[in-house]
Amino acid sequence: MSDSWQPRIVAFACRWCTYAGADLAGTSRKEYPSSVRLIRVPCSGRVNPSFVIRAFQRGADGVLVSGCHPGDCHYIEGNLLTRRRYSVAKRFLEYLGIEPERFRVEWISAAEGARFADLITEMTDDIRELGPNRKMREQV
Ligand code: FES
Repeated sequence: MSDSWQPRIVAFACRWCTYAGADLAGTSRKEYPSSVRLIRVPCSGRVNPSFVIRAFQRGADGVLVSGCHPGDCHYIEGNLLTRRRYSVAKRFLEYLGIEPERFRVEWISAAEGARFADLITEMTDDIRELGPNRKMREQV
């Protein structure tokens, strides 16, 4: 794998918490890899697993679904639905050949800009070790 290869990470970010956390990372001048493409969603509960599969099919090397901490969802139980939904979906993705490091569900609040930067750095490093995602792309 060449040193210049950058994984492509698609991050579905709840607008109230994670998206604001990413914004804080930027305004706090925290450095993190440019490998992430943020998609702002109203709530992590809005992210249908088909969006995740589609992202992998369209060339993502990693996908992050992130929202408010449990108990802080602005729609009361959207992130509880996310947690339940993705405990099942993660196993389905593994069945499809997606390594567990490529897909994560994380809770990041609007005050956790540093945590957002650290998470993207960690995901990028993990995925860089795995190399490009070829499994799902080949199935398109
Ligand atoms: Fe943030 Fe529901 S509003 S996860």
